[in-house]
This record gives sequence, structure tokens and C-alpha cells, in this order.
Amino acid sequence: MSDLQKKNAGEAAAQYVEAGMVVGLGTGSTAAWFVKALAARNLSDLRCVPTSERTADLARELGLTLSTLEDTPKIDLTVDGADEIGPGLALIKGGGAALLREKLVWEASARCICIADAAKVVPALGTFPLPIEVVAFGHKTTANRIADVLADHDIASPARVREAERGLIRTDGGNLIYDAACKLIADPARLAADLKSLTGVVEHGLFLDLTDLAVIGTDEGFETIN
Ligand code: 5RP
Repeated sequence: MSDLQKKNAGEAAAQYVEAGMVVGLGTGSTAAWFVKALAARNLSDLRCVPTSERTADLARELGLTLSTLEDTPKIDLTVDGADEIGPGLALIKGGGAALLREKLVWEASARCICIADAAKVVPALGTFPLPIEVVAFGHKTTANRIADVLADHDIASPARVREAERGLIRTDGGNLIYDAACKLIADPARLAADLKSLTGVVEHGLFLDLTDLAVIGTDEGFETIN
């Protein structure tokens, strides 16, 4: 993980934004570089839809004008980080527990740019544990159903609930996150559909067919994948 590469990716992506746009702001350390670079450009008439309370706080602090999906349901461009970038620009996201708001914003966007350091580009998805957002009510029952789905995909270890010293991690929406150590996701589309079909699963971190361009930071600058 290279902070310089994240910074280079975030700064490069900020150049894709034009005055007057509605911009989706991602969540995470790479997205934070983008938010800072965007604020520094001082473009006129921007409206920004943040994907987390954390990003909203940063954007507000930097003087960006915030909006919501309710007020600006059509987003011109979203720029956000990723935990893994696989073949076909299939992504794992949600390491920062913001996957639900992120996916809502991505799906409302005409264009999505994923920004990351070079280590995030992988030959197949699954080394990074797949985040799955689950309703707190009855979550252990839901976790058992998730384990059945994972087993059907030859993934032996059950998903584990995400927790910190002070207790279970809650998302901005008040839900819980389970992380599934898949090792290899052989069929991301089928796994996405199977997880989504479970009552109690709110969303998963597989972002498929949503990315238009990946901007990958290097030590010297950046490269793009499309
Ligand atoms: C948050 C995310 C982040 O974009 C992802 O975890 C990457 O984070 P970072 O840029 O800090 O490596 O999906 O839910």
C-alpha cells in the first residue's frame, strides 16, 4: 500500500471533473486524496454527493458544496477507491464499511472512476475479504445462510462479523458488516446474485459492470485501465 500512489491517483482523477458537475465522492484514504485535490481546483457550481459521513465531514471542512441523492439524483461522475480491481474492472469494495451508500451513488452515476494504488490490481478477486452488509436483527441467522451460499461457491470459511475493541462495527446506516475470506471468487456474478437473494443481506462489496475507468497511481504518476 503506497500513500504516494493513492495521492497520485486521487489528484489525476480530480482532473476529470468539470465545473457545474454533480460529483459522487467516494470513501477511504484514496478517495480522501481525490476530495482534497478536487477542493483545491476550486471549480464553480460543483455539487458533491458524499458516500459516507466521514467523507461528508472532510468535504465540508474543505468548503465543497454538499448535496444528497434526494436533491441531485443524477450524478455526472463518481470517483471512489477500491479494495481489489480484478479482470473486467470488477471490484471488491467496502473495506471502509461504506459499500451500501457507495453502491447507491455509483448506480446513480453516468460515469464512475475507480482510483487505487497499484497493489489493488489483482488477477482474480477474492484475496481481500469480501464485505457483506447485514441487518443487525437476526444477523447470526443471516450469517448461517451466507455460509451456505459461500459453501456452494467452494468457499469453506464462514464470514466473520467485523468488530473493534468497542464492539461490533456499525455502518452509517446502522447495519453490521460480515467479511468473507473467499480466497478466490471463481464466479463473481453468480456469487453477487446469490448473496443479494438472501433476506437480511442489505448489500455486498462486489461492484460489477459499474466502473468506466480505473486510475492507478504509480510512484511517478498514474496509469489508466478501461
Ligand atoms: C470504503 C471503500 C474504499 O474505497 C476501499 O476500502 C479502499 O480504501 P482505501 O482507499 O483506504 O484503500 O470501499 O467502503
